[in-house]
Amino acid sequence: MEFRHLGRSGLMVSELAYGNWITHGSQIEEEAAAACVKAALDEGITTFDTADVYAGTRAEEVLGRALRGQRRESLEIFTKVYWPTGDGRNDRGLSRKHIFESIHGSLRRLGTDYVDLYQAHRFDHETPLEETLRAFDDLVRQGKVLYVGVSEWRAEEIARALKIADEMGLDRIVSNQPQYSMLWRVIESEVVPLSEREGVGQVVFSPLAQGVLTGKYVPGQAPPAGSRATDAEGGASVIKRVLREEVLTRVQRLRPIAEEAGLSMAQLAVAWVLQNPNVSSAIIGASRPEQVRDNARAAGVRLDPALLKRIDEVLEPVIERDPARTVSPPRRP
Ligand SMILES: NC(=O)c1ccc[n+]([C@@H]2O[C@H](COP(=O)([O-])OP(=O)(O)OC[C@H]3O[C@@H](n4cnc5c(N)ncnc54)[C@H](OP(=O)(O)O)[C@@H]3O)[C@@H](O)[C@H]2O)c1
Repeated sequence: MEFRHLGRSGLMVSELAYGNWITHGSQIEEEAAAACVKAALDEGITTFDTADVYAGTRAEEVLGRALRGQRRESLEIFTKVYWPTGDGRNDRGLSRKHIFESIHGSLRRLGTDYVDLYQAHRFDHETPLEETLRAFDDLVRQGKVLYVGVSEWRAEEIARALKIADEMGLDRIVSNQPQYSMLWRVIESEVVPLSEREGVGQVVFSPLAQGVLTGKYVPGQAPPAGSRATDAEGGASVIKRVLREEVLTRVQRLRPIAEEAGLSMAQLAVAWVLQNPNVSSAIIGASRPEQVRDNARAAGVRLDPALLKRIDEVLEPVIERDPARTVSPPRRP
């Protein structure tokens, strides 16, 4: 495994992080979840990402159990707050009340005294940023949270938060967690240049476009058994929008490029996001330990500029680049 700084902070994170959205507490059984976490640890992954909302809060419990017995100082545990964790009016968003209540639930479920990174899971248009940043800062001072970050925020939202933090002397955001893959490049024009200037690192999610970039979804064929596309409980509805014929056809044309580079298609996709120096870590999901082992080999891989150009030529018509595609709900969900 290779390691990078989380933005301009002093914290080192593994180039690959393991995340448990969709899988833990939902798509896969506890035993498979523990086996994936063990495979991640065996591959040298030290960074783990979850959220209060995943699997209706069960995902944090599963991760907490899977990490039990590990040396806490050797792990970086990330979680998030914003999406609803209950039916109450205040069980959502980035108010001081919900942030404080949610972190306590997360720490209890994860079985830890602190999280390394606490992330605002979306921008909350109904709470003053000053309130959110002050609450985060208080958690840092209490030692419950070591660093603060955001997820899927627009460049102008990150810029506003940094300005307020500087003016009020509050802890600064060190990371953003956006979707980023060969197919989804919406952060490149605005979020990345701002983040480079400000020392914010990207902890990117869905580098495999939820499995699509592994090439296992073949156009015109039924999705493979046991894959996210067949997970009627939740996975199928979220992967649906990427499973377009035109995308799948173009992805198949990456196969010879990966072979020439001596990489699996999954490794090529993960290595691709890691070529961006503003990326601190790529969060991979996995429903089986062999996927973790496959993907982990992408750490440290350098891709040739000529090969990157060929990838662009193959995918160009299906690449999304519009920064306006980063949108937080106008009202709290
Ligand atoms: N901040 C946010 O809003 C947000 C949103 C989404 C995700 N995330 C974070 O990012 C993490 C990763 O997201 P993701 O799961 O969408 O990432 P991903 O790495 O793009 O997709 C992971 C899925 O692809 C399949 N897969 C993985 N490796 C494979 C391989 N080598 N061969 C074949 N199939 C493979 C597995 O699904 P199957 O085996 O089921 O097909 C796996 O669960 C999440 O767990 C979460 O921590 C954050």
